[in-house]
Amino acid sequence: MKIKQNYDLTKLNTFGISAKAKYFVEISKEKDLGDLFSSKEFKNNKKLFLGGGSNVLFTKDFDGIVVLNGLKGIEILKEDENSVFVKSASGEFWNDLVNFATDRGYWGIENLSLIPGTVGGAPIQNIGAYGTEVKDIIDSVEVYDSETGEKKVFQNSDCKFGYRDSIFKNKLKGKYFISAVIFKLSKIKNLNVKYKALKDYLENNKLEIKNSKDISNIVAQIRKSKLPDPKILGNAGSFFKNIYVDSAKLEELKRKYSDLPYFEEGEGVKIPAGWLIEKCGPANSGTSWKGYRIGNVGVYEKQALVLVNYGGATGEEVKNLVGQIIDSVFEKFGLKLVPEVNLI
Ligand code: FAD
Ligand code: EPU
Repeated sequence: MKIKQNYDLTKLNTFGISAKAKYFVEISKEKDLGDLFSSKEFKNNKKLFLGGGSNVLFTKDFDGIVVLNGLKGIEILKEDENSVFVKSASGEFWNDLVNFATDRGYWGIENLSLIPGTVGGAPIQNIGAYGTEVKDIIDSVEVYDSETGEKKVFQNSDCKFGYRDSIFKNKLKGKYFISAVIFKLSKIKNLNVKYKALKDYLENNKLEIKNSKDISNIVAQIRKSKLPDPKILGNAGSFFKNIYVDSAKLEELKRKYSDLPYFEEGEGVKIPAGWLIEKCGPANSGTSWKGYRIGNVGVYEKQALVLVNYGGATGEEVKNLVGQIIDSVFEKFGLKLVPEVNLI
């Protein structure tokens, strides 16, 4: 474990924003955590645990210590004829875990295929896609208290999972380092194809699903057609969360906008933020944000919820665009967009 100084983070965030960390260290063994937590660089500075950097926006250099998670290892803890408990170290890439499970025919994780980032990043915002959220398959989360070094286990219900939310993103933000996650997967065929884009794809292509790998491949296909590949165009997925509204607000919006899309989901009725953004644009321009570019940043042409870096963008540039988008949506719809991405 070697603590470096003035470390360039450009390649460690999928937005491709250039920023430096005052101190930087990569952890590849769990036992190094003790040394790290007692080091003066860790004790005396702000800390940032970093996985795949696919849900962060560096708005400036990080004046503290960045801890890159390199903990690896996936193992089966126990199984019976119906289910299997899989433990993954938090530094494993999420999609490697998806492949581990779908290669063995396990069900439950397949709708979450191809989401970037690490296993440790997944519980932070309760990743979700195509009708599944990671809370549906998490048994427990192993963590280290970054102040005391004490190891602790959070059961699923302790994590307070919500839509793109958990206790780790919220009340206990930054307090714990997630070292491993234990998943409960099914050995019994368990199709979840209610999500419209997935359902339509299956119907249009008249596909027969034999195993979880089939779903995994289809989800990957759909995702590739909608979302930019960060290797080609810097981005952090959806920049904002979709918005839950109460029934009074829903009725008001429906009266004004007959084409308003909305979905009844989990905690209530959700309005897709991509639609709200598409319907707004730069002040007095008469054009849509969708496909808009200013300097090195812009709104992705195929998905208005995704902000992109055309190359060389600064975090400040992205932040300025974010502010303008939030203001325009609030002015038109009276709804406040909330960033999903962690602004650092
Ligand atoms: P990072 O970006 O490295 O970190 C995110 C936050 O988690 C930070 O606050 C960080 O401090 C904290 N953190 C990370 N690891 C740990 C740890 N071990 N212990 C404690 N704190 C930690 N998300 C979805 O939910 N659904 C999607 O469909 C989806 N699609 C995406 C598509 C693209 C193209 C991109 C670029 C992103 C997408 N995302 C999606 C967002 C992102 O991939 C997920 O949020 C992912 O789980 C982030 O993991 P990460 O390892 O990259 O986290
Ligand atoms: N829409 C528009 N214009 C756009 C984009 C979307 O009008 O430019 C409307 C359409 O009505 C569309 C609806 O929004 O039917 C939903 O769009 P989509 O299916 O692309 O999903 P999303 O709500 O934009 C969410 C997640 C994604 C996840 C997909 C698939 C959030 C914030 N985003 O996007 O997660 O992959 O559903 O489940 O909940 C992420 O979190 O980073 C992410 C990519």
